[in-house]
Amino acid sequence: MHDRHKLTLDAIRAAIDSEPNPQHAMASTVQLLARHLTDYTWTGIYLLEGNELCLGPFVGTPSPHTRIPLGRGICGAAVSEKTTIIVDDVNADPRYLACSIETRSEIVVPIMLGGDVLGELDIDSDKAAAFGPDDRELLEAVAALLAPKIATPEDRRTAAMPLQS
Ligand code: SME
Repeated sequence: MHDRHKLTLDAIRAAIDSEPNPQHAMASTVQLLARHLTDYTWTGIYLLEGNELCLGPFVGTPSPHTRIPLGRGICGAAVSEKTTIIVDDVNADPRYLACSIETRSEIVVPIMLGGDVLGELDIDSDKAAAFGPDDRELLEAVAALLAPKIATPEDRRTAAMPLQS
């Protein structure tokens, strides 16, 4: 990982380790990602509730997609496939649900515990092909740190929460 990504991971690990409240841990995570990585134009967490992904804390333009049924969008695909999805050109992907007209690329990383998906990190960029192996490595490490913090349905109970970076 590049230094910038390593520093970001260190800052997020420190924030998550010192934060007992799961909602605050999620909020700090999206804020630190948005603050450290300037290509991350929209940074948010969706949480799985039954058959829907529900938007929790986010930094960026409010999204019309506060609830995404499984099977829809790149977000839904990442849950079904239980794997990270990187889309270099969102306009060329028929699964894409638009949040902002400026968005060019997206990465979605499932947050999983014991093989179950609890939610996901969703990042959009106004830059085409903005996400590479460093972003994947960073965000998968962040997802692994967050997973035990949001293990119960109560931990994941949240509402769409716009934040400043
Ligand atoms: N683009 C996502 C929807 C979420 S918004 O980008 C915030 C998708 O295609 O699932």
